[in-house]
Parts: sequence; structure tokens; C-alpha cells
Amino acid sequence: MNSSSSFSVFIFTAVIILRCLNPIKAATCHPDDEAGLLAFKSGITRDPSGILSSWKKGTACCSWNGITCLTGDRVTALTVSGQSEVAGSFLSGTISSSLAKLQHLDGIYLMNLKNITGPFPQFLFRLPQLKFVYIENNRLSGPLPVNIGSLSQIEAFSLEGNRFTGPIPTSISNLTKLSQLNLGGNLLTGTIPSGIANLKLISFLNLGGNRLSGTIPDIFKSMPELRSLVLSGNGFSGNLPPSIASLAPILRFLEVGRNKLSGKIPEYLSRFKALDTLDLSRNKFSGAVPKSFANLTKIFNLDLSHNLLTDPFPALYVKGIESLDLSYNQFHLKTIPKWVTSSPIIFSLKLAKCGIKMSLDDWKPAEYYFYDFIDLSENEISGSPARFLNQTEYLVEFRAAGNKLRFDMGKLTFAKTLKTLDLSRNLVFGKVPATVAGLQTLNVSQNHLCGKLPTTKFPASAFAGNDCLCGPPLSPCKV
Ligand SMILES: *[C@@H]1O[C@H](CO)[C@@H](O)[C@H](O)[C@H]1NC(C)=O
Ligand SMILES: *[C@@H]1O[C@H](CO)[C@@H](O)[C@H](O)[C@H]1NC(C)=O
Ligand SMILES: *[C@@H]1O[C@H](CO)[C@@H](O)[C@H](O)[C@H]1NC(C)=O
Ligand SMILES: *[C@@H]1O[C@H](CO)[C@@H](O)[C@H](O)[C@H]1NC(C)=O
Ligand SMILES: *[C@@H]1O[C@H](CO)[C@@H](O)[C@H](O)[C@H]1NC(C)=O
Repeated sequence: MNSSSSFSVFIFTAVIILRCLNPIKAATCHPDDEAGLLAFKSGITRDPSGILSSWKKGTACCSWNGITCLTGDRVTALTVSGQSEVAGSFLSGTISSSLAKLQHLDGIYLMNLKNITGPFPQFLFRLPQLKFVYIENNRLSGPLPVNIGSLSQIEAFSLEGNRFTGPIPTSISNLTKLSQLNLGGNLLTGTIPSGIANLKLISFLNLGGNRLSGTIPDIFKSMPELRSLVLSGNGFSGNLPPSIASLAPILRFLEVGRNKLSGKIPEYLSRFKALDTLDLSRNKFSGAVPKSFANLTKIFNLDLSHNLLTDPFPALYVKGIESLDLSYNQFHLKTIPKWVTSSPIIFSLKLAKCGIKMSLDDWKPAEYYFYDFIDLSENEISGSPARFLNQTEYLVEFRAAGNKLRFDMGKLTFAKTLKTLDLSRNLVFGKVPATVAGLQTLNVSQNHLCGKLPTTKFPASAFAGNDCLCGPPLSPCKV
């Protein structure tokens, strides 16, 4: 530690000690704000981890947990969030409309509280300064108000992870100051209102994980700031609209997986110089992947799995892919591509049913260290994964069902992190090692294994169809 940073640590410590000896009196907050917050607290029926335990009548509310007062005694931001890693960190109850008393509120953040119920909070319409609304991962339900467009001063609006139903109100086109709109993970239906084209400042748009349908409207020409577009997990059909091409200079995330989109993968995507993540998975895209994809040199995450794509797959000149999924198309890649094997940062590789016919003994990845997920199922891969499995440190999942792997399972070693091992329908021989007991999922059915099984919790179907395995859950070994 250099002297200037140790000096600042000293100052910091001194300030903390002085504060403890002589607490600075935080301004007693405005009576309206205190009343509004206490009404919110009384609408909460359960708070097992004590998220609101510092909210006590008569104490300075600006110093309560989650309260920010930037202008004297007025509350400007309310931040109440549950922590996923803390057991019991949730709130049950409803959001009191008395929060409308907090007339200086510019941000409301009620996040990951899991068990807050009730309809859309109408009091938001009575907060003139409100710019930021994040009411995420709760259990609010019912329709979005048709007059949502009258929250015209709003800049960021997220209702992600609730249970809102019905259509996206057309008045949303009046929220022209929005830079972030996140309605993901609800139960919204209907189509995307084309008036969303009015949101010219939008940089983040997530409507994923709803029940939206129809075609994706051709609205993107007027969105020069858009960096992240997530429409995954809906029922969208038709082609990707041409105006997506105008997002080429800055779009980083394009996620439209799990829909019913069809047509060819547009050539223009290869001009997306900033593209980090492209997810077109689980649609009906057909034809060959444009050759010009070779130009996507900066892409990190590419998921084209579960489509109807055909050969040839272009070689990419990407410096390091992080995750790749080309599974379940109509590819015949023959080998694991070089640009994948040479990636120094890859953690997820999924090439199931990709027509790969190589020996794993010939596969020499540049890096083993980061690998978390491998799926090479349903190919014609021979040889042994032993060397690979022995060298990984963080591998969580290894799937290679339906190949021609031939090796002695008794000698297999793998990372302590491994949770899933699927080697069913191969030519694996030897004994099942006792180390598999630590896995969460195992399948070694339909191989040539033999001998007494170690004690595990796996069902008989995980071991069925081998040469001479015995002991529970299979039949007893003959003595
Ligand atoms: C969630 O809230 C509902 C209704 O308020 C209540 O019945 C239920 O017990 C709550 N769940 C938990 C885990 O507290
Ligand atoms: C948008 O706001 C204007 C002016 O306030 C209003 O006339 C119009 O009806 C609104 N549009 C929608 C779709 O609600
Ligand atoms: C990559 O882009 C350059 C110009 O940006 C273009 O000339 C070239 O043809 C592209 N490569 C492929 C394979 O399309
Ligand atoms: C696995 O690693 C250990 C120690 O690094 C080594 O002794 C052993 O031979 C390796 N096994 C295989 C199959 O590569
Ligand atoms: C193991 O795989 C076989 C066929 O691949 C399947 O029938 C069986 O249900 C699987 N068992 C388990 C426990 O996953």
C-alpha cells in the first residue's frame, strides 16, 4: 500500500470514529415523507429479514435504510430491495398509495421483494418529479394503465419480473424521454404498439419473456441510441424487420430467441460492429448463415441453436468467443471449428447434433480453465474425454450422449465443480467410479460398463443397458 492511500484510509477511519462518538444529526425529514414511508411500512405484512427495521416513527427518516434525501429534508429516492443470497429476504404485502406524499421523489426502486402483490401502483401518476421507476421481481398483477403515457417525464421504467397481463398500452408512445424500458418477464399479450417508434432516446428495450405475438414492427430506424434489444421468449413470427439494420453502429445485444421467427438470417447483421451477443435460438430460421459473419470479429456470445440452418457454416475471425451454441440445426461441421478451439476465453461450447466426426483425442483446446458447459451430444465423436475432463477446473456440465466415445470410466477424473455428466449411448467400458456420487445428474445408460455400482442416488434408468453393472438400483450382484 502506498503512503497516499494509507493516509486516506487513516482519514476515513478517523471520520468513522468521530461519527460514532458524535453522531451527526441527520435532518429530521419532512412530516409528509415520514407519514408516507410509515404508511408503506404498515402495508407490509411480513419482513422476515428486517429490511425495514430501521424505519421507526420519530427518528430521522433520511437515515432509514434505503432512503435518500438530496434536497434538505425531502426524500428523493426510495430503494427497497431483497437480496437473493439472504434467506427470508423478501416482503409480503402491498405498496401503499400513501407513497404519493413523497412529492419530491425522483426515483422509486422496489426490487426483488418477491412477494409484494397488488395492481399497478396508481400513485406514480401523482409524483411530479418521478424519473426512474424500477419495480422488479415482485408479484404485481393486472393490466398496465391505458394512460401510462401521462408519466411523460419518466426516463427509465422497469416492471420486469411481475405478473402484469393484457396489452402494452398504445399511450406508451408518449413516454418520449425514456431511455430504458423493461417490461420483461410478465404475462403481457398482444402486439408491440408501433408507436414505440416515438421513443427516440431509447437505449435499452426489453419485452422478453411475455406472451406477445404478431410480427416485430419495423420501428427501429428512429432509435439511434438503441444498444440492447431483447424480445426473446414470446410468440413473434415473420422475419426480422429490415429497420434493425439501422442499429448496426452501436447495438450490442440482440436477443430474439424462443419465438417463431423465420426466413434467412439477414446479411446486414455482419455489419454490426459492436455486437456482443446475438441470440436467434429456438426459432425457424433457415438457409445458410451469411458468409459475411466472418466479419463479426468482436462477438462474444452466439446462440443459433434449434433452428433449421444449413451448411456451410462460415469460419469466424473472432479473437475469442465466450459462448457458442449451434446445436440442433442441419449442420455438418465435421470437426470442432478452429476458431472455437483457439479461443482463450471460452466457457460454454454447445455443438449437439452438428455432424461432428472427430476423435476427442485430437481436440487440443487453447484453454481448459474457464470451461463451464460442454454439450457435444448426438455427433459421431470417438476417443476419450478423459484428458479434457482431467484438466478443467470449473466444469459444471459435460454432455456427450449418443456418440462413439470409448474409454475406461473407472479411470475418469473430473473437476469437483462438475454437476452433470451425460455419457449415455456410447462405448464406455470399465467400472463406474465412486466419485460420481457427488454429481447432481448422471447418465451412463447404454454403454459397456460392468461391475458393482457405487452407492448413489441416481435411478436405474441412469445405468440401464450396460453389459454387466449390478447392485442397487439395478439387480443384486451375483456372488
Ligand atoms: C406471500 O403473500 C401472500 C399473500 O399476501 C401470503 O399468503 C403468503 O404467505 C406470502 N408468502 C410468504 C412466503 O410469506
Ligand atoms: C399523447 O399525449 C397527447 C398530448 O398529451 C395526447 O393528445 C395523445 O392522445 C397521447 N397519445 C396517446 C397514444 O395516448
Ligand atoms: C467484411 O467487410 C468488408 C468491408 O467492411 C468487406 O469488404 C468484406 O467482403 C467482408 N467480408 C465478408 C466475408 O463478407
Ligand atoms: C490427470 O491428471 C493427473 C495429475 O495432473 C495425472 O497424474 C493423470 O495422469 C491425468 N490423467 C489423465 C487421464 O490425463
Ligand atoms: C438416460 O438416457 C436414456 C437414453 O439416452 C434415457 O432413456 C433415460 O431416461 C436417461 N435417464 C436419466 C436418469 O436421465
